[in-house]
Amino acid sequence: MQYGYFDDEAREYVITRPDTPYPWINYLGCDEFYGLFSNTSGGYCFYRDARMLRLTRYRYNNVPADAGGRYFYLRDGGDVWTPSWMPMKSALDRYECRHGMGYSKISSSRNGLAFSQTSFVPLGDNCEIHKVILTNESKAQKNVDIFSFIEFCLWNANDDMTNFQRNFSIGEVEVEGSRIYHKTEYRERRNHFAVWAVNVPINGFDTDRQSFLGLYNGFDQAKTPFEGKANNSIASGWAPIGSHHIKAVLAAGESKTFVFVLGYCENPADQKWDASFKDFISGKSGNKGVINSKVINKTPANALLEKYKTAEAADTALAALNVYWKNLLARFTVDAEDKKMARMAGVWNQYQCMVTFNMSRSASYFESGIGRGMGFRDSNQDLLGFVHLVPERARARILDIAATQFPDGSAYHQYQPLTKRGNNDVGSGFNDDPLWLICGVAAYIKETGDYSILDEKVPFDNNEALADTLFIHLKRSFYYTVTNKGPHGLPLIGRADWNDCLNLNCFSSTPGESFQTTANFESGIAESVLIAAIFVFTGPDFAEICRRTGRADEAESAEKEIAVMIEAVNQHGWDGDWFLRAYDAHGKKIGSRECDDGKIFIESNGFAAMAGIGAEDGRAQKALDSVKEHLDTPYGIVLLQPAYKDYHLELGEVSSYPPGYKENAGIFCHNNPWVTIGETVLGRGNRAFETYKNICPAYREDDSDLRRMEPYVYAQMVAGKDAPHFGEAKNSWLTGTAAWTFVSISQYILGVRPVYDGLLIDPCIPSTMKNYTVMRHFRGADYHITVDNSAGIEKGVKSITVDGNALDGDVLPVFGDGKKHEVIVKMGV
Ligand code: BGC
Ligand code: NOJ
Repeated sequence: MQYGYFDDEAREYVITRPDTPYPWINYLGCDEFYGLFSNTSGGYCFYRDARMLRLTRYRYNNVPADAGGRYFYLRDGGDVWTPSWMPMKSALDRYECRHGMGYSKISSSRNGLAFSQTSFVPLGDNCEIHKVILTNESKAQKNVDIFSFIEFCLWNANDDMTNFQRNFSIGEVEVEGSRIYHKTEYRERRNHFAVWAVNVPINGFDTDRQSFLGLYNGFDQAKTPFEGKANNSIASGWAPIGSHHIKAVLAAGESKTFVFVLGYCENPADQKWDASFKDFISGKSGNKGVINSKVINKTPANALLEKYKTAEAADTALAALNVYWKNLLARFTVDAEDKKMARMAGVWNQYQCMVTFNMSRSASYFESGIGRGMGFRDSNQDLLGFVHLVPERARARILDIAATQFPDGSAYHQYQPLTKRGNNDVGSGFNDDPLWLICGVAAYIKETGDYSILDEKVPFDNNEALADTLFIHLKRSFYYTVTNKGPHGLPLIGRADWNDCLNLNCFSSTPGESFQTTANFESGIAESVLIAAIFVFTGPDFAEICRRTGRADEAESAEKEIAVMIEAVNQHGWDGDWFLRAYDAHGKKIGSRECDDGKIFIESNGFAAMAGIGAEDGRAQKALDSVKEHLDTPYGIVLLQPAYKDYHLELGEVSSYPPGYKENAGIFCHNNPWVTIGETVLGRGNRAFETYKNICPAYREDDSDLRRMEPYVYAQMVAGKDAPHFGEAKNSWLTGTAAWTFVSISQYILGVRPVYDGLLIDPCIPSTMKNYTVMRHFRGADYHITVDNSAGIEKGVKSITVDGNALDGDVLPVFGDGKKHEVIVKMGV
């Protein structure tokens, strides 16, 4: 069953009933201030770091309940209801939620009172705007009470939900007119505060949770709206909230608009307090919540609220956001008969790539925002799907990531977004990490032609004294793999490779121990065929970069190492019908027909095919045929088969999951596009597209009761065929699936691929796809590419014309002239 539909024109997903099978969310913000926003106005917001600077509270283990958000309680006569459905689950006459590019809009009505809430983070300002419109659609006057509601988080989200002995005593607020300030810890070491304001005079307020809700009540039973009168409570400790009470009289047919702003403000350390404030003793100042004769210096809040004090100003900011996204997405658009593919590739997949680039794996409805920082491997992969949108930000990110690399080429697995320093909790030793840096930098250079990034001086281990050029970082990455090989000449796996759960040096028998950070010994034996394939895929980029920067000798040495690695895979990485996955710490094969469970894995097969290993002698083809035979399902390709039934001490976390979930034979979508790309390398467009489609959410929109996750974004995992809930997705939004799928569809299926000298045209499509067009912005020009496949083939370009002239070869040149160029591609043999 379907819970909504795509509005392609508006680039919105329209949810038509509030009780979706799971909260279906959107992300507000694309720079420093972010909000997670569910289809019932649940979620929270933060400035830069979801753990350290969280403005509003969100609860541990709270989904799907989704309690907490920006709520509006309406009291229409005696009838109290919440127009976003939650938290009261109010019966609504009408409901709709439109999730768009960086904004969401909820509209509903009940008994002739219509409500709409448009929520977004404006470009360049650190706040959420919620524009609320009430319309009296009835024939009689309505007297409506509006109660806004948010609950403040005491900034550090981890402390907020664990350290009650302190928290219940530290909450502080200040109220001035229609502005509620949250200033917990401002008196001591914080120079920032939050403000929750509305642009009209209010009739009352609450800042103390218990006063507003009533003792023992949840958000669904807030007492104040039923009483119809705010308490003007000033929070002191316990739980600070922000609630405005507005009385609105609406004549028949009349609308009223309110602009609510939730902002983050900072003051210089020596200007924290308002020097002009004198009137606290008489109480005439209107300030409530005065501490030690001081009130906050509100200069930054005044500026922010002055800017957004009218509905017109909010509309202008939203229009600017729309233009921003329109321009961004104009950099790659698709027009094709297959609308599902076109809308995913042209809009939603790229949107998700922006979100994963911004969030890494920190804050979603499956990632708490308090744990993981930015991943070395994750962020390098995320930028593959983002670099065409905002190349400058990808460049900056690359330099941040590289600065956390160790001098020997290995890397901190994660770093913290606020400090940009490597994170010791997780440490290093994930031996695939270094290679992803080469992959990310190569993608950046191919997109931009900017080789100057290689000359940037970048610290090692965040230590300026150890800084060297980015080129040297790449070289250390490359040679880290070369110098860390095991008995078969294959790369040592370390704590894990891309598959975080293949922990071959862990041997953990203690419950609760982290599989990723517990290494009982480093065997010096356990090897990864996947890392070998990643090396063969991305190593040639290192060689090419050497050659193009006048380092021909370096290039040759690198190519020799790649040849040695290919030979090692040929000798020791092939199992007869597919590629092996690894050798364990005892030198035993993993992913072999000799194994009882885990005979075949997806990753090494997809990546080897992608890297072209075995392309000439039929092994790549055989490997992908085996993948299809043993691992394929209608919902995507499972990670391995047969699923591990028992826990294997020598394998680690992979065997800890019940069969069919996560890395133990779940459909781990991230690696599916590797097979897709591998299929295009073999020229099998029909199969490539099938693997693309099977994990693509838009094709499962009408199956939402089973899939449960948002139909407009990829999920990290779909339960595999061994699981009781086969086909159910989990962990939507923050996954490397976004970037890799965008690479697979845009570069390898539709075949518009940035290379060092221009845009390579190399489609590999289903034979039934007769034509399509792609508009691609590339290095300062627009390429309007029309592909004609009336021949009905899967791969092969017969001719290309550019602006009417025949092109020699298949690489569109770099024009950089700000103009639009017409490209006609005829497929054929
Ligand atoms: C998950 C992996 C994740 C790892 C690191 C594991 O429990 O299954 O997907 O990468 O933890 O946090
Ligand atoms: C999610 C992690 O973020 C990613 O780094 C890893 O490759 C996959 N899980 C597979 O384990």
